[in-house]
Amino acid sequence: MRAVVTGCAGFVGSHLSERLVAEGLTVTGVDAFTDYYERSAKEANLASLVGAGSFTLVEADLSMAALEPIFAGADVVFHLAAQPGVRGSFGPGFADYVRHNVMATQRVFEAATATGCRRVVMASSSSVYGDAEAYPCVVGVTDTQPRSPYGVSKRTCEDLAAVYRASGLDTVALRYFTVYGPRQRPDMAMRRICEAAVGGPPFEMYGDGSQSRDFTHVVDIVDATFRAGTVKSVAPVFNVGGGHETSLARVIDVLATISGTSIPIIRYDVQRGDVRRTAAHTAPARRLLGWPR
Ligand code: UGA
Repeated sequence: MRAVVTGCAGFVGSHLSERLVAEGLTVTGVDAFTDYYERSAKEANLASLVGAGSFTLVEADLSMAALEPIFAGADVVFHLAAQPGVRGSFGPGFADYVRHNVMATQRVFEAATATGCRRVVMASSSSVYGDAEAYPCVVGVTDTQPRSPYGVSKRTCEDLAAVYRASGLDTVALRYFTVYGPRQRPDMAMRRICEAAVGGPPFEMYGDGSQSRDFTHVVDIVDATFRAGTVKSVAPVFNVGGGHETSLARVIDVLATISGTSIPIIRYDVQRGDVRRTAAHTAPARRLLGWPR
């Protein structure tokens, strides 16, 4: 079986690529190495893949490159490449979200259709929900009312998936809930708290720490994503959430206890686009994907 992973040098994409190679798939990894964070970090993410016989790296920007030659012969495309981050999506930075999320995703669906790819699994986000009226958020029941331009870009990608699905392409969107674990992106809270605990810059806390997230370990995210690409039939959209809603203040406490230090904190106002809480209803992923393993 042959798979394409877009965003293969990123946090989740690199872990997924490793899992696919370990499962015996032949993987073509695509990455544009955008400058959202350092190229060297992304190259380090790929360390165990480059040189593996069943992994090929293609450096390409999905918003411009010819994708059909890259996708030819692929059974499944795991489309994880994106411009991530909630808070940076306001202001002029939104152009990057349109290009790397909306335009790139439409081009992925076109190329997957043209090359006869069996399925496209796409990374969506809990951000599509915004501040929900009730928790946990249930796919198809809870309204999608994003509070950030990033969330709008991900909801638009889901809308595009529905359009291409209606014309015959098998698509699955996975709404990831705040992913954590090794190689986490440098802009994310858990990474920055860990760095502050080991002598890095103080943690800049937005708000009072009472906001909560359904933090999800990257191993669980990868498992759901792998299954979404390989099980026989799927639903169009799933939540993938860890099932333990935790406040930011509690995360800081736990990491301070584990590291045996007091974590230096500088307080800032709540940031635009930040939701109060996230919590995922995951019964369909458990039932249809057999997740987690
Ligand atoms: C994360 C990812 O960054 C998004 O790309 C992803 O789509 C989203 O999860 C999702 O679940 O859909 P977020 O939940 O904001 O977004 O995750 P973090 O960046 O780890 O932030 C968690 C909380 O910590 C937020 O309230 C944020 O304001 C706060 N935070 C973050 C800080 O107080 N300081 C920081 O330096 C970073």
